[in-house]
Amino acid sequence: MTEIERAAKTIREGGMVAFPTETVYGLGANALDATAVRRIFALKGRPSTSPLIVHVDSIEMAKDLVTDWPPLAEDLALQYWPGPLTFVLPKQSKVPASVTAGLPTVGVRMPNHPIALELIRLAGVPIAAPSANRFTELSPTTAAHVRAAFGFDLQILDGGPTDVGIESTVLALTPEPVLLRPGMISFDKIRQISTVSNAGESHLAPGMSSRHYSPRTTLLIVERGNVPDKGRGYYLARNRMPSSPGGYAARLYDVLHRLDRQGWDWIAVEKPPETAEWLAILDRLRRASG
Ligand code: TXA
Ligand code: MG
Repeated sequence: MTEIERAAKTIREGGMVAFPTETVYGLGANALDATAVRRIFALKGRPSTSPLIVHVDSIEMAKDLVTDWPPLAEDLALQYWPGPLTFVLPKQSKVPASVTAGLPTVGVRMPNHPIALELIRLAGVPIAAPSANRFTELSPTTAAHVRAAFGFDLQILDGGPTDVGIESTVLALTPEPVLLRPGMISFDKIRQISTVSNAGESHLAPGMSSRHYSPRTTLLIVERGNVPDKGRGYYLARNRMPSSPGGYAARLYDVLHRLDRQGWDWIAVEKPPETAEWLAILDRLRRASG
């Protein structure tokens, strides 16, 4: 049996495995098995009020989980799936309430990673998976980050470092399009296909507590090298990071995981530009700075 076959068997039998996607590593279980899904919440220490994204390997599998698949979902899926875009749609009754935190809607996405797609295909079921980190901590972008969080009991499919590096864009289509979480598929790209409103600060995606995606070390966002004069800290200047938003996002969590292990009193991140293409990165930095 290959590693992926063994993982698929674990999923079918109600267990959990960690797997790579193009955004971050996920901690997966059979999305149609309420008991298996509850194990994810227990292992992560995640409150049951925070809904999970269900990962599919086809548009067909996504349609089978929802009661409505609007033309906009079809258009966006044809353009951006597999990819870092999650749709929130009204759920079918077979999707357990534990997946959706009791909400009448479910988040679905088709990840753009061969290991994730093969795992779903072999398991033959949709896979519910949050990021494979403990609640409130930084999302994992390597298998080693997952190992550090959960140890050796958990099977981790190692796909190397993830490409996109920050979590998917979450778009509610119930039915008006509302952006619940910014990601590297930007507002502007979605707007080319439809008019979208931004939930902004008023109705954040449920379970998105403001302190989230955080290193343990105090993280500050600073301008013009304006770092604290107390303590020993690390200044993450823009020129220590890739200059493009895509390159920056791909590196961000790994850099923060590393700095977090180095015992600084603070990490001061030089603020990226406040332009649309940096929006998702600014969002994650703001959350990480609590
Ligand atoms: O890139 C990603 O999305 C990664 C990989 C593993 O796919 N997953 C991820 O999952 O970031 P998680 O659980 O860390 O974040 C899921 C987000 C949360 O912000 C949650 O509130 C939102 O999706 N979400 C899920 N279902 C929802 C629903 N029914 N209504 C509103 N928001 C929902
Ligand atoms: Mg997460």
